[in-house]
Amino acid sequence: MPREPLEAILLVGGKGTRLRPLTLSAPKPLLPTAGVPFLAHQLTRAAECGISHVVLATSYRAEMFAEAFGDGSSFGLSIDYMYEEEPLGTGGGIRNASSRLKGGPEDPVVILNGDILSGHDLPAQVDLHRKRDAAVTLHLVEVDDPSRYGCVPTDGDGRVTAFLEKTPDPVTNRINAGCYVFKRSVIDAIPAGEVVSVERETFPGIIEAGELIMGYDESAYWLDVGTPEAFVRGSADVVLGHMPSPALAGEPGESLVLAGASVAEGAQVSGGTVVGAGSVVETGATVHGSVLFDDARIREGAVVTDSIIGRGAVIEGGAVIEGAVIGDRASIGSGNEVARGLRIWPDVRLEPTSVRFSADV
Ligand code: GTP
Repeated sequence: MPREPLEAILLVGGKGTRLRPLTLSAPKPLLPTAGVPFLAHQLTRAAECGISHVVLATSYRAEMFAEAFGDGSSFGLSIDYMYEEEPLGTGGGIRNASSRLKGGPEDPVVILNGDILSGHDLPAQVDLHRKRDAAVTLHLVEVDDPSRYGCVPTDGDGRVTAFLEKTPDPVTNRINAGCYVFKRSVIDAIPAGEVVSVERETFPGIIEAGELIMGYDESAYWLDVGTPEAFVRGSADVVLGHMPSPALAGEPGESLVLAGASVAEGAQVSGGTVVGAGSVVETGATVHGSVLFDDARIREGAVVTDSIIGRGAVIEGGAVIEGAVIGDRASIGSGNEVARGLRIWPDVRLEPTSVRFSADV
């Protein structure tokens, strides 16, 4: 049966503070992920799932989105852009973007956080929403450690009964996965021009009013790429094919070497690593599970694992980078060890040294 065309709002206005310094020069949804801007993975999946019109709710570095995606025709989508001068939060951003929607009050609108990689069956979520005539239907996922998130209990019928803040003793390990289907009229009831959080205000308010919020449970591939560790994991998972994405150029494999990059014969590049355009990995260098932005240079004998190497950064032979972020144009001299959790700011130069950097000193 042909599906009705759907509309979506993508929330992309956040500052992405947890991904600094990478997000100083570009917003999180535009960071290169498996060879394309992160949002390209969401846009291609949206088009595949029957979405035809997307409104991007922008604020931080707003102009960069239209430069990257234009009118959306290359994705088979029509894209509109809405701007918040002061970020209005998730609810305020959705409300602000809704003025560009074309559907009627009863129509479903898909809302996606702009930092989620999800392989779940979005059309099935929309079908459940329509079947139950819900105000909102949320994708819920189970995570091992729900204490880092708010948790979302449901009753036996799938009805969401509460939105609980982070707690050391969560009542369920189901969490809000950042993909919602709203009835259009519910969006229009959010106060306009105000800072509103859907998680803290809109959803608890709907439950309080006795309206129906449904939980759509599906434990497909799911990742919130908001931290550096998750960001490299997500990119590697797309390259390796663990998270299938129609936006991946070519077949899944151990590495993705973009046009204009060069990997020497004696170099080891594996674990879903992306080598950005103009980047060079010299012979005897080892790069695993990492993202090299454009024009980076990994010199002979350097070891880079689970890390993000910024544009134009240089890692000298003998340097070891593990689980770290190296800012654009930074230079890490021989003998430095940049350990898990550390971030080197753009243009910083670590001279060749025997001083060791460690997360626990
Ligand atoms: P951190 O600062 O690292 O927490 O990242 P973030 O700013 O992206 O915040 P968070 O991860 O909580 O945001 C979830 C999603 O909502 C992301 O896709 C953000 O781009 C988006 N978002 C957050 N705040 C706003 C806002 O005020 N307006 C709009 N339009 N989107 C927002």
